[in-house]
Amino acid sequence: DAAVKGGFATFMEKEIHDQPAAVRDTLLGRMSPTGSLQLDELRIDESILRRVDKIVVVACGTAAYAGHVAKYAIEHWCRIPVEVELAHEFRYRDPVVSEKTLVVAITQSGETMDTLMAVRHAREQGAKVLAIVNTHGSTIARESDAVLYTHAGPEVAVASTKAFVAQITATYLLGLYLAQLRGNKYSDEVVTYLDELMKMPDKIAEVIAREDDIKDLAHRMKDVTSVLFLGRHVGFPVALEGALKLKELAYIHAEGFAAGELKHGPIALVEEGQPVFFIVPTPRRPLLHAKVMSNVREVNARGARVLCIAEEGDTAVEEFAADVIRIPETPTLLHPLVSVIPLQIFACALAAEKGLDVDQPRNLAKSVTVE
Ligand code: G6P
Repeated sequence: DAAVKGGFATFMEKEIHDQPAAVRDTLLGRMSPTGSLQLDELRIDESILRRVDKIVVVACGTAAYAGHVAKYAIEHWCRIPVEVELAHEFRYRDPVVSEKTLVVAITQSGETMDTLMAVRHAREQGAKVLAIVNTHGSTIARESDAVLYTHAGPEVAVASTKAFVAQITATYLLGLYLAQLRGNKYSDEVVTYLDELMKMPDKIAEVIAREDDIKDLAHRMKDVTSVLFLGRHVGFPVALEGALKLKELAYIHAEGFAAGELKHGPIALVEEGQPVFFIVPTPRRPLLHAKVMSNVREVNARGARVLCIAEEGDTAVEEFAADVIRIPETPTLLHPLVSVIPLQIFACALAAEKGLDVDQPRNLAKSVTVE
Protein backbone atom coordinates (compact mmCIF):
# COMPACT_ATOMS: atom_id res chain seq x y z
CA ASP A 1 0.00 0.00 0.00
CA ALA A 2 2.76 2.45 1.00
CA ALA A 3 4.57 1.56 -2.22
CA VAL A 4 1.70 2.48 -4.54
CA LYS A 5 1.29 5.69 -2.59
CA GLY A 6 4.96 6.44 -3.18
CA GLY A 7 5.70 6.56 0.55
CA PHE A 8 2.90 9.05 1.27
CA ALA A 9 0.08 8.35 3.71
CA THR A 10 -2.60 9.06 1.09
CA PHE A 11 -3.00 9.09 -2.68
CA MET A 12 -3.98 12.72 -2.48
CA GLU A 13 -0.62 13.70 -0.97
CA LYS A 14 1.19 11.59 -3.53
CA GLU A 15 -0.76 13.14 -6.37
CA ILE A 16 -0.12 16.67 -5.08
CA HIS A 17 3.58 15.82 -5.14
CA ASP A 18 3.26 14.30 -8.63
CA GLN A 19 2.27 17.68 -10.06
CA PRO A 20 5.65 18.89 -11.33
CA ALA A 21 5.91 15.61 -13.26
CA ALA A 22 2.30 15.84 -14.48
CA VAL A 23 3.02 19.22 -16.07
CA ARG A 24 6.45 18.18 -17.38
CA ASP A 25 5.10 15.01 -18.95
CA THR A 26 2.20 16.87 -20.54
CA LEU A 27 4.67 19.26 -22.20
CA LEU A 28 7.06 16.50 -23.20
CA GLY A 29 7.47 15.70 -26.86
CA ARG A 30 5.20 18.47 -28.02
CA MET A 31 7.85 20.94 -29.03
CA SER A 32 10.02 20.78 -32.08
CA PRO A 33 13.78 21.45 -31.81
CA THR A 34 13.18 24.86 -33.38
CA GLY A 35 10.95 25.86 -30.50
CA SER A 36 7.62 25.63 -32.28
CA LEU A 37 4.74 23.49 -31.08
CA GLN A 38 3.93 20.18 -32.68
CA LEU A 39 0.61 18.65 -31.76
CA ASP A 40 0.66 15.80 -34.24
CA GLU A 41 -2.16 14.05 -32.46
CA LEU A 42 -4.62 16.84 -33.32
CA ARG A 43 -6.17 14.98 -36.19
CA ILE A 44 -8.47 17.82 -37.16
CA ASP A 45 -7.67 19.33 -40.51
CA GLU A 46 -5.57 22.50 -40.21
CA SER A 47 -7.92 24.27 -42.59
CA ILE A 48 -10.78 23.57 -40.19
CA LEU A 49 -8.78 24.82 -37.21
CA ARG A 50 -7.97 28.01 -39.12
CA ARG A 51 -11.68 28.60 -39.73
CA VAL A 52 -12.85 28.06 -36.14
CA ASP A 53 -14.78 31.14 -35.04
CA LYS A 54 -15.77 30.04 -31.54
CA ILE A 55 -14.51 27.62 -28.93
CA VAL A 56 -16.84 26.11 -26.37
CA VAL A 57 -15.29 24.28 -23.46
CA VAL A 58 -17.49 21.66 -21.82
CA ALA A 59 -16.56 19.89 -18.60
CA CYS A 60 -17.68 19.20 -15.03
CA GLY A 61 -16.23 19.88 -11.62
CA THR A 62 -12.55 20.68 -11.39
CA ALA A 63 -12.11 20.09 -15.13
CA ALA A 64 -14.55 22.94 -15.78
CA TYR A 65 -12.31 25.28 -13.78
CA ALA A 66 -9.41 24.25 -16.00
CA GLY A 67 -11.63 25.35 -18.89
CA HIS A 68 -12.30 28.64 -17.16
CA VAL A 69 -8.54 29.28 -16.97
CA ALA A 70 -8.24 28.29 -20.64
CA LYS A 71 -10.67 31.02 -21.65
CA TYR A 72 -8.33 33.78 -20.47
CA ALA A 73 -5.32 32.28 -22.22
CA ILE A 74 -6.90 31.18 -25.50
CA GLU A 75 -8.84 34.39 -26.04
CA HIS A 76 -5.70 36.42 -25.43
CA TRP A 77 -3.41 34.39 -27.70
CA CYS A 78 -5.85 33.42 -30.45
CA ARG A 79 -8.47 36.20 -30.48
CA ILE A 80 -11.15 33.50 -30.74
CA PRO A 81 -14.13 33.87 -28.41
CA VAL A 82 -14.18 31.09 -25.81
CA GLU A 83 -17.23 30.06 -23.83
CA VAL A 84 -16.95 27.75 -20.87
CA GLU A 85 -19.95 25.74 -19.94
CA LEU A 86 -20.78 22.99 -17.52
CA ALA A 87 -21.44 19.99 -19.75
CA HIS A 88 -24.87 19.27 -18.27
CA GLU A 89 -26.01 22.87 -18.84
CA PHE A 90 -24.68 22.91 -22.40
CA ARG A 91 -26.49 19.74 -23.31
CA TYR A 92 -29.97 20.84 -22.31
CA ARG A 93 -30.15 24.47 -23.41
CA ASP A 94 -30.07 24.34 -27.21
CA PRO A 95 -26.61 25.90 -27.56
CA VAL A 96 -25.52 27.70 -30.72
CA VAL A 97 -22.99 25.40 -32.33
CA SER A 98 -21.91 25.20 -35.98
CA GLU A 99 -19.28 23.61 -38.20
CA LYS A 100 -17.04 26.52 -37.27
CA THR A 101 -17.29 25.77 -33.55
CA LEU A 102 -14.54 23.84 -31.84
CA VAL A 103 -15.86 22.12 -28.75
CA VAL A 104 -13.16 21.27 -26.23
CA ALA A 105 -14.21 18.59 -23.75
CA ILE A 106 -11.97 18.40 -20.69
CA THR A 107 -12.11 15.27 -18.56
CA GLN A 108 -9.73 13.28 -16.41
CA SER A 109 -11.56 9.99 -16.64
CA GLY A 110 -13.00 10.37 -20.11
CA GLU A 111 -16.09 8.66 -18.73
CA THR A 112 -18.12 11.47 -17.15
CA MET A 113 -21.61 10.93 -18.56
CA ASP A 114 -22.58 14.61 -18.52
CA THR A 115 -19.50 15.46 -20.57
CA LEU A 116 -20.01 12.53 -22.92
CA MET A 117 -23.59 13.62 -23.64
CA ALA A 118 -22.36 17.15 -24.41
CA VAL A 119 -19.75 15.71 -26.80
CA ARG A 120 -22.37 13.67 -28.63
CA HIS A 121 -24.72 16.61 -28.82
CA ALA A 122 -21.99 18.90 -30.21
CA ARG A 123 -21.00 16.40 -32.89
CA GLU A 124 -24.62 15.96 -33.92
CA GLN A 125 -24.70 19.72 -34.51
CA GLY A 126 -21.70 19.46 -36.82
CA ALA A 127 -19.05 20.83 -34.46
CA LYS A 128 -15.60 19.28 -34.19
CA VAL A 129 -14.81 17.96 -30.74
CA LEU A 130 -11.33 17.99 -29.31
CA ALA A 131 -11.04 16.12 -26.02
CA ILE A 132 -8.42 16.82 -23.37
CA VAL A 133 -8.35 13.51 -21.55
CA ASN A 134 -6.11 11.76 -19.04
CA THR A 135 -7.30 8.19 -19.53
CA HIS A 136 -6.22 6.42 -22.71
CA GLY A 137 -8.89 4.66 -24.68
CA SER A 138 -11.71 6.10 -22.56
CA THR A 139 -15.16 6.63 -24.08
CA ILE A 140 -14.80 10.38 -24.61
CA ALA A 141 -11.34 9.87 -26.14
CA ARG A 142 -12.86 7.37 -28.58
CA GLU A 143 -15.90 9.44 -29.46
CA SER A 144 -14.13 12.74 -30.12
CA ASP A 145 -12.63 13.96 -33.39
CA ALA A 146 -9.23 14.41 -31.78
CA VAL A 147 -7.62 13.89 -28.39
CA LEU A 148 -4.93 15.86 -26.65
CA TYR A 149 -3.86 13.60 -23.82
CA THR A 150 -2.74 14.94 -20.49
CA HIS A 151 0.05 12.82 -19.08
CA ALA A 152 -0.71 13.13 -15.39
CA GLY A 153 -0.64 9.37 -14.85
CA PRO A 154 -3.46 7.54 -13.06
CA GLU A 155 -5.26 9.73 -10.54
CA VAL A 156 -6.70 7.69 -7.69
CA ALA A 157 -7.87 10.20 -5.09
CA VAL A 158 -11.45 11.22 -5.84
CA ALA A 159 -10.79 14.96 -5.72
CA SER A 160 -8.71 16.01 -8.69
CA THR A 161 -5.28 17.63 -8.26
CA LYS A 162 -2.61 16.59 -10.72
CA ALA A 163 -5.12 16.06 -13.52
CA PHE A 164 -6.16 19.70 -13.04
CA VAL A 165 -2.69 21.17 -13.56
CA ALA A 166 -2.15 18.83 -16.50
CA GLN A 167 -5.47 19.94 -18.03
CA ILE A 168 -4.52 23.60 -17.68
CA THR A 169 -1.15 22.85 -19.28
CA ALA A 170 -2.84 21.08 -22.19
CA THR A 171 -5.16 24.03 -22.79
CA TYR A 172 -2.13 26.36 -22.88
CA LEU A 173 -0.59 24.09 -25.51
CA LEU A 174 -3.81 24.17 -27.49
CA GLY A 175 -4.03 27.98 -27.28
CA LEU A 176 -0.43 28.48 -28.29
CA TYR A 177 -0.78 25.96 -31.10
CA LEU A 178 -3.83 27.71 -32.52
CA ALA A 179 -2.06 31.08 -32.23
CA GLN A 180 0.92 29.63 -34.09
CA LEU A 181 -1.30 28.11 -36.76
CA ARG A 182 -3.56 31.08 -37.35
CA GLY A 183 -1.03 33.84 -36.82
CA ASN A 184 -1.91 37.24 -35.34
CA LYS A 185 -0.19 40.00 -33.45
CA TYR A 186 0.20 37.76 -30.41
CA SER A 187 1.88 34.90 -32.26
CA ASP A 188 5.26 36.25 -31.12
CA GLU A 189 4.31 35.32 -27.60
CA VAL A 190 4.24 31.63 -28.48
CA VAL A 191 7.98 31.10 -28.09
CA THR A 192 8.16 33.17 -24.91
CA TYR A 193 5.29 31.34 -23.30
CA LEU A 194 6.58 27.91 -24.28
CA ASP A 195 9.79 28.86 -22.57
CA GLU A 196 7.90 30.03 -19.48
CA LEU A 197 5.81 26.85 -19.49
CA MET A 198 8.98 24.75 -19.34
CA LYS A 199 9.88 26.52 -16.08
CA MET A 200 6.56 25.67 -14.43
CA PRO A 201 7.39 22.18 -13.10
CA ASP A 202 10.26 23.61 -11.00
CA LYS A 203 8.08 26.48 -9.81
CA ILE A 204 5.36 24.05 -8.72
CA ALA A 205 7.99 22.03 -6.88
CA GLU A 206 9.10 25.21 -5.09
CA VAL A 207 5.58 25.77 -3.79
CA ILE A 208 5.21 22.15 -2.70
CA ALA A 209 8.52 22.44 -0.82
CA ARG A 210 6.80 24.97 1.45
CA GLU A 211 4.00 22.60 2.37
CA ASP A 212 4.90 22.58 6.07
CA ASP A 213 3.93 26.24 6.41
CA ILE A 214 0.60 25.53 4.72
CA LYS A 215 -0.01 22.49 6.95
CA ASP A 216 0.74 24.67 9.95
CA LEU A 217 -1.87 27.16 8.72
CA ALA A 218 -4.38 24.32 8.30
CA HIS A 219 -3.63 23.19 11.84
CA ARG A 220 -4.29 26.68 13.19
CA MET A 221 -7.52 26.85 11.17
CA LYS A 222 -8.86 23.39 11.90
CA ASP A 223 -11.99 24.71 13.62
CA VAL A 224 -13.16 27.11 10.92
CA THR A 225 -16.68 26.58 9.60
CA SER A 226 -16.69 28.92 6.60
CA VAL A 227 -13.98 30.12 4.23
CA LEU A 228 -14.15 32.56 1.31
CA PHE A 229 -11.82 32.62 -1.69
CA LEU A 230 -11.44 35.65 -3.90
CA GLY A 231 -9.53 36.09 -7.13
CA ARG A 232 -9.62 38.20 -10.24
CA HIS A 233 -8.79 37.30 -13.87
CA VAL A 234 -7.22 33.80 -13.83
CA GLY A 235 -7.28 34.01 -10.03
CA PHE A 236 -11.07 33.72 -10.21
CA PRO A 237 -11.21 30.07 -11.32
CA VAL A 238 -8.43 29.34 -8.84
CA ALA A 239 -10.64 30.79 -6.10
CA LEU A 240 -13.50 28.56 -7.26
CA GLU A 241 -11.23 25.52 -7.23
CA GLY A 242 -9.85 26.40 -3.76
CA ALA A 243 -13.41 26.52 -2.43
CA LEU A 244 -14.37 23.28 -4.17
CA LYS A 245 -11.36 21.45 -2.73
CA LEU A 246 -12.26 22.58 0.78
CA LYS A 247 -15.87 21.44 0.39
CA GLU A 248 -14.92 18.11 -1.15
CA LEU A 249 -12.13 17.18 1.24
CA ALA A 250 -12.83 18.93 4.53
CA TYR A 251 -16.64 19.35 4.34
CA ILE A 252 -16.27 23.02 5.18
CA HIS A 253 -18.65 25.54 3.73
CA ALA A 254 -16.59 27.50 1.25
CA GLU A 255 -17.35 29.93 -1.55
CA GLY A 256 -15.21 31.25 -4.35
CA PHE A 257 -15.96 34.64 -5.87
CA ALA A 258 -14.60 36.98 -8.47
CA ALA A 259 -12.89 39.61 -6.32
CA GLY A 260 -14.59 42.40 -8.27
CA GLU A 261 -17.93 40.95 -7.22
CA LEU A 262 -17.16 41.50 -3.54
CA LYS A 263 -18.97 44.81 -3.25
CA HIS A 264 -21.95 43.40 -5.16
CA GLY A 265 -22.84 40.93 -2.43
CA PRO A 266 -20.26 38.70 -0.79
CA ILE A 267 -18.93 41.52 1.39
CA ALA A 268 -22.10 41.11 3.45
CA LEU A 269 -20.65 37.80 4.64
CA VAL A 270 -17.46 39.40 5.90
CA GLU A 271 -17.36 39.76 9.66
CA GLU A 272 -14.75 39.74 12.39
CA GLY A 273 -12.48 36.73 12.05
CA GLN A 274 -13.98 35.40 8.77
CA PRO A 275 -11.15 33.67 6.89
CA VAL A 276 -10.77 35.08 3.35
CA PHE A 277 -8.18 33.78 0.93
CA PHE A 278 -6.99 36.12 -1.82
CA ILE A 279 -5.24 34.96 -4.93
CA VAL A 280 -3.15 38.07 -5.52
CA PRO A 281 -2.02 38.78 -9.11
CA THR A 282 1.56 39.63 -9.89
CA PRO A 283 2.60 43.21 -9.00
CA ARG A 284 4.07 43.30 -12.52
CA ARG A 285 0.45 43.77 -13.67
CA PRO A 286 -0.08 46.92 -11.56
CA LEU A 287 -3.71 47.59 -12.53
CA LEU A 288 -4.84 44.06 -11.81
CA HIS A 289 -2.79 43.94 -8.63
CA ALA A 290 -4.15 47.25 -7.37
CA LYS A 291 -7.74 46.14 -7.88
CA VAL A 292 -7.28 43.01 -5.80
CA MET A 293 -5.32 44.94 -3.18
CA SER A 294 -8.22 47.30 -2.76
CA ASN A 295 -10.43 44.28 -1.96
CA VAL A 296 -7.78 43.03 0.46
CA ARG A 297 -7.87 46.36 2.29
CA GLU A 298 -11.67 46.44 2.41
CA VAL A 299 -11.91 42.96 3.85
CA ASN A 300 -9.10 43.60 6.30
CA ALA A 301 -10.83 46.79 7.48
CA ARG A 302 -13.85 44.69 8.46
CA GLY A 303 -11.76 42.55 10.75
CA ALA A 304 -11.60 39.48 8.53
CA ARG A 305 -8.67 37.12 8.63
CA VAL A 306 -6.92 37.80 5.34
CA LEU A 307 -4.80 35.03 3.85
CA CYS A 308 -2.86 35.96 0.74
CA ILE A 309 -1.33 33.83 -1.94
CA ALA A 310 1.13 36.28 -3.41
CA GLU A 311 4.31 36.36 -5.42
CA GLU A 312 7.68 36.56 -3.76
CA GLY A 313 8.67 40.18 -3.38
CA ASP A 314 5.08 41.43 -3.22
CA THR A 315 5.51 43.35 0.02
CA ALA A 316 2.22 45.25 -0.36
CA VAL A 317 0.23 42.35 1.06
CA GLU A 318 2.15 42.12 4.33
CA GLU A 319 0.41 45.00 6.06
CA PHE A 320 -3.02 43.41 5.67
CA ALA A 321 -2.55 39.66 5.68
CA ALA A 322 -2.52 37.44 8.75
CA ASP A 323 -0.62 34.92 6.62
CA VAL A 324 1.09 35.14 3.26
CA ILE A 325 1.81 32.05 1.19
CA ARG A 326 4.48 32.75 -1.38
CA ILE A 327 4.54 31.62 -4.98
CA PRO A 328 7.35 32.27 -7.49
CA GLU A 329 7.17 35.09 -10.02
CA THR A 330 5.14 33.81 -12.96
CA PRO A 331 3.49 35.38 -16.03
CA THR A 332 -0.14 36.17 -15.23
CA LEU A 333 -1.72 33.68 -17.62
CA LEU A 334 0.32 30.83 -16.12
CA HIS A 335 -0.35 31.83 -12.49
CA PRO A 336 -2.99 29.16 -11.81
CA LEU A 337 -0.37 26.41 -12.12
CA VAL A 338 1.35 27.75 -9.01
CA SER A 339 -1.43 29.54 -7.14
CA VAL A 340 -3.72 26.52 -6.90
CA ILE A 341 -1.07 24.34 -5.21
CA PRO A 342 -1.28 25.93 -1.73
CA LEU A 343 -5.08 25.64 -1.83
CA GLN A 344 -4.89 21.91 -2.58
CA ILE A 345 -2.35 21.36 0.21
CA PHE A 346 -4.47 23.45 2.58
CA ALA A 347 -7.69 21.52 1.91
CA CYS A 348 -5.91 18.18 2.16
CA ALA A 349 -4.16 19.12 5.42
CA LEU A 350 -7.33 20.51 6.97
CA ALA A 351 -9.22 17.32 6.12
CA ALA A 352 -6.41 15.30 7.67
CA GLU A 353 -6.57 17.49 10.81
CA LYS A 354 -10.25 16.59 11.04
CA GLY A 355 -9.45 12.90 10.69
CA LEU A 356 -11.27 12.60 7.35
CA ASP A 357 -10.57 10.21 4.49
CA VAL A 358 -9.01 12.54 1.93
CA ASP A 359 -8.82 9.94 -0.81
CA GLN A 360 -12.44 8.89 -0.60
CA PRO A 361 -14.62 11.76 0.63
CA ARG A 362 -18.19 10.93 1.53
CA ASN A 363 -20.85 10.87 -1.20
CA LEU A 364 -18.39 11.51 -4.06
CA ALA A 365 -17.32 9.28 -6.92
CA LYS A 366 -14.10 9.56 -8.90
CA SER A 367 -15.97 9.26 -12.11
CA VAL A 368 -19.65 10.08 -12.39
CA THR A 369 -20.96 7.77 -15.10
CA VAL A 370 -24.62 8.63 -14.75
CA GLU A 371 -26.34 11.84 -15.82
C1 G6P B 1 -16.15 14.03 -10.24
C2 G6P B 1 -14.84 14.11 -9.46
C3 G6P B 1 -14.15 15.46 -9.69
C4 G6P B 1 -13.98 15.69 -11.17
C5 G6P B 1 -15.29 15.58 -11.93
C6 G6P B 1 -15.08 15.57 -13.44
O1 G6P B 1 -17.09 14.89 -9.71
O2 G6P B 1 -15.09 13.93 -8.07
O3 G6P B 1 -12.89 15.47 -9.05
O4 G6P B 1 -13.43 16.98 -11.37
O5 G6P B 1 -15.94 14.35 -11.62
O6 G6P B 1 -14.44 14.37 -13.76
P1 G6P B 1 -13.67 14.12 -15.10
O7 G6P B 1 -13.19 12.70 -15.03
O8 G6P B 1 -14.64 14.35 -16.21
O9 G6P B 1 -12.54 15.10 -15.14
